[in-house]
Amino acid sequence: MTLLQVMAADNAADVRVRTTDPTEIGTELAQHGIAYSHWDVRADAAATDSDALLAHYGPQIADLNATGRYRHIDIARIHPDADNPEWPATAAGARAKFLDEHRHAEDEVRFFAAGHGCFYLHVGDAVLATVCEAGDLLSVPAGTLHWFDMGTTPDFIAIRFFEEADGWVGDFTGDKISAGFPTLDELLG
Ligand SMILES: [Fe+2]
Repeated sequence: MTLLQVMAADNAADVRVRTTDPTEIGTELAQHGIAYSHWDVRADAAATDSDALLAHYGPQIADLNATGRYRHIDIARIHPDADNPEWPATAAGARAKFLDEHRHAEDEVRFFAAGHGCFYLHVGDAVLATVCEAGDLLSVPAGTLHWFDMGTTPDFIAIRFFEEADGWVGDFTGDKISAGFPTLDELLG
């Protein structure tokens, strides 16, 4: 479920907006300079290898990258693996990586080909929790304070667009603001 929940930055209990309406979500995000759109969903994405997925979305990728701005385009994928005893630790480690507030020197552009994850955009006096699911394309502008929760059972495939090879590196603010907000699991619970 694509979901937007807007909360006061100093009080997560002050919920200003909660909507699953794609048009409303797009309008709300656009007011904050955050681009949000949709590409078609490929139902067999999880069973499709990354090269084939990139080829499938080739036209959309070419359109998005018409200026050649993104020089590094890859796929990040994580799926539960019950047979791997190390998976819980891998999942927890992956989740912890971007769970604290940070910003990037370039736009963080992600297309969810499958699964879901939540971007928390800290803009002005609000936090916009945006749960992206398959088909959602979100662009977090460079410098925007945010964090990302993939949940306790991470399961997604995301196409990532970078200008520089190290574009994913986060500049962490040290602010523990994220601890005061509902997690992805809680938002969907
Ligand atoms: Fe980030």
